[in-house]
Amino acid sequence: MKSEKSRKIPLKIGIVGGGQLAQMLALEANAYGLEVHVLSEKSTDPAALVTGHFFQGSPDSQGDQSEFCKNLDLLTFESEFFDMEHFKKLAELSPTYIFPEPQAMAILQDRFSQKNLLKKNKIPTADFLRVQNKQDLLQAFQHFKGQFVLKKCQGGYDGQGTYYSRRQADLESMQGLLPGNFIAESFISFKREMALVIVRSRNGAMITLPLVETKQSHSRCDWVIGPIRHPLIAPLIGKLQRLLKNINYVGAIAFELFDCGRQIMVNEVAPRVHNSAHYSQDALQVSQFLLHLKAGLGESLAPAKLNSPAFAMVNLLGGGASESKMPLNLTGKLHWYGKKENRAGRKLGHINYLGQTTKEVLARGLSERKKLVL
Ligand SMILES: Nc1ncnc2c1ncn2[C@@H]1O[C@H](COP(=O)(O)OP(=O)(O)OP(=O)(O)O)[C@@H](O)[C@H]1O
Ligand SMILES: [Mg+2]
Repeated sequence: MKSEKSRKIPLKIGIVGGGQLAQMLALEANAYGLEVHVLSEKSTDPAALVTGHFFQGSPDSQGDQSEFCKNLDLLTFESEFFDMEHFKKLAELSPTYIFPEPQAMAILQDRFSQKNLLKKNKIPTADFLRVQNKQDLLQAFQHFKGQFVLKKCQGGYDGQGTYYSRRQADLESMQGLLPGNFIAESFISFKREMALVIVRSRNGAMITLPLVETKQSHSRCDWVIGPIRHPLIAPLIGKLQRLLKNINYVGAIAFELFDCGRQIMVNEVAPRVHNSAHYSQDALQVSQFLLHLKAGLGESLAPAKLNSPAFAMVNLLGGGASESKMPLNLTGKLHWYGKKENRAGRKLGHINYLGQTTKEVLARGLSERKKLVL
């Protein structure tokens, strides 16, 4: 008799980081028969709230990384911003399977090496120069005729570490940031922003989630709609998949894109689960979080089928309310992260909406969002 494939329950998985991405990964992992361990700083962090195996420590401390890794079957990251040097050694020496590979994470966590990787793989991206000192900045100003975006190579998110140059005065204020590690990138006047998540399993199989439009305000994701179409997405997906194979990437990975009409450019790459695919929790038969886990387990990945013709995700950003409130008649599904502090602009949760058209579903989501007190 042919034996069916099976695995041990529970396998032990460690998640490095304690924010909302780790929380949503942890919830899916629990339900999928994994024992979830979380390494983060505070016991009130969103992911620490949903596990019985909280390891309080610093994700960047080598000692804590080693201790945390002991006795785990698998280990993954909620973000690309952790120090990968010691994780590289653990990936070689410990029996724990670490995904995505720390080596690939180290390349992708730095904007300069990330952009070079895109260039090497012939993937369109904004022209860029490395900027480490005032001399480099002056050269960039001349090269881009004053119109460029200066981005910190490491650790930037939600617009932090991103500075716009439009005129001479901007150049002067940028000089105060140097010396440092930055890239200067040409300013792109795109039609809209889009995002694409690809998941690659340890067994080499890949699936691509639906293409979505993303709207940022003040460099923070405000809402997402999909599925959308673009005539040039298929060849780009082919190139991105080849890149993932080249670096032996395992897990979910997000590509933030600029739709420039006759060209799609990759803005940045996030080697992890991503805000632009939170819709997948309700709009797809399998969420990006479960797909990331299945990828690490080396399981096959079924095509990402939609539960409805259209979907929207609206982010719930903090407004500083002392007490948050939600109406009871929401037509979407609320995902609340349980953060202890409500600071302006902080991501507190999101709501996923399903419907017949992206236009209708987004209008409904935006109008319902106004009824929440945040
Ligand atoms: N070269 C560019 N030309 C025009 N606009 C840009 C450019 N680069 C970035 N932006 C705008 O700034 C936003 C934030 O930039 P980017 O995504 O690179 O950095 P980030 O702050 O690290 O974001 P994230 O939180 O997604 O990691 C983009 O979504 C886009 O709206
Ligand atoms: Mg971004």
